[in-house]
Amino acid sequence: MNFDTIIADLAEQGWSLQERFLPETLTRALAEECRQREQRGDLAPAGVGRAEQLAVRESIRGDRIQWLEPGQSAASDAYLALLDELRQALNQAFFLGLEEFECHFALYPPGAFYQTHLDRFRDDDSRTVTAVAYLNHDWQPAHGGAMRMHLADRPALDIPPLAGHLVVFLSADIPHEVLPTHSERLAVTGWFRRRAQRLV
Ligand code: OGA
Ligand code: MN
Repeated sequence: MNFDTIIADLAEQGWSLQERFLPETLTRALAEECRQREQRGDLAPAGVGRAEQLAVRESIRGDRIQWLEPGQSAASDAYLALLDELRQALNQAFFLGLEEFECHFALYPPGAFYQTHLDRFRDDDSRTVTAVAYLNHDWQPAHGGAMRMHLADRPALDIPPLAGHLVVFLSADIPHEVLPTHSERLAVTGWFRRRAQRLV
């Protein structure tokens, strides 16, 4: 795959929206897998914070998640392989030294949201680039659930979670939120990480 537009956008503005990033068959397979994981009871309320401080706070975020690990399914392996290609392209373009990609399925039930935040933790700067792929076919504006990016020097930008779209941005730079969704909202949310340097 050609990642040139993502790289040019990141260099210029710190974020990129790729429409039709995922092949349709892969989008459908991932959506199906996310729903199956929910039905099996594998998704759990997402926490806020890192490791020992992890706490579930539905007033901050209401999504239910499960991490993708290699070997879970053909679809999740295909997604991990595709994003690993992007990791290598980002390293070649920006010398970021991204060592890994971690990602989880995220299901927002109706009424859920995620308040404005940065994806980089105060005490761990390893998350460098965020990549979110959306899995929602037939999404309507009335469903809400947009990802709102708070950009410097311009009005906030709302990105609807449309099937096959990928949004990529610099984790430390762009505050963002998920507006309340009125319909079940599915995504694979992930981060390219470089080796952590302890800040505190
Ligand atoms: C996150 C997040 C955005 C989205 O999980 O950190 O900001 O659009 N997700 O799901
Ligand atoms: Mn985020």
